[in-house]
Amino acid sequence: MNEFWESAFRSNDKMWGEYPTDNSKNVLKLFQKNNIKSVIIPGFGYGRNAKVFYDEGLKVSGIEISKTAIERARKYFGNEVTIHHGSVTDMPFDKASFEAIYCYSLIHLLDKAERLKLIEDCYSKLKPNGLMVFVALSINDNRFGVGSEVEKNTFFSPNGLNLYFYDEAAIKEEFGKYNILEAKEINEPEENPKEKHWMIVCKK
Ligand SMILES: C[S@@+](CC[C@H](N)C(=O)[O-])C[C@H]1O[C@@H](n2cnc3c(N)ncnc32)[C@H](O)[C@@H]1O
Repeated sequence: MNEFWESAFRSNDKMWGEYPTDNSKNVLKLFQKNNIKSVIIPGFGYGRNAKVFYDEGLKVSGIEISKTAIERARKYFGNEVTIHHGSVTDMPFDKASFEAIYCYSLIHLLDKAERLKLIEDCYSKLKPNGLMVFVALSINDNRFGVGSEVEKNTFFSPNGLNLYFYDEAAIKEEFGKYNILEAKEINEPEENPKEKHWMIVCKK
């Protein structure tokens, strides 16, 4: 996993561009409505979504497996933001707790045991009344069914990653015990969509 992302970030300066996802802007509104002041982002990337929260004064932290992505993130944040270098599978990295988790497009890269551990570890990092938001691939995304199926709803995609696709039953099974406030399918971007995800919001 580490080598894949390291070489992806090294060979592609832009990756997903400098612009944040539409979803991060919607989640900012949700966080502001709930008076959230701190957020940790597992699978931080180079911080395009983190910047949405950071610019509005939230205290932002992250976890990221690629050193190159972290170096690029420093361009936005200098050393003001703590970004743990390592795999989310090795959480927790410290004892800090947060009012929110924002995990965009990471959990579907993990196998089932890793996904369950990530959800549990994120929930443990939440302060009481905190919110965790996961955005993960849906079975209605056009990558579903592409490549060989290595496990139920997990496909070895042509770019060399295993991708897991959620349906409603899987969301209930994996997030069910974490007080789901909302689970809905979203388009990304919202106009001329290319991807279909689930957004799952849980409250501690
Ligand atoms: C699809 S990208 C999404 C990045 C970011 N959330 C965004 O939307 O800009 C997945 C990110 O998770 C990182 N990643 C992949 N596996 C990881 C792991 N096991 N632990 C921590 N980060 C990981 C990758 O390096 C990459 O930055």
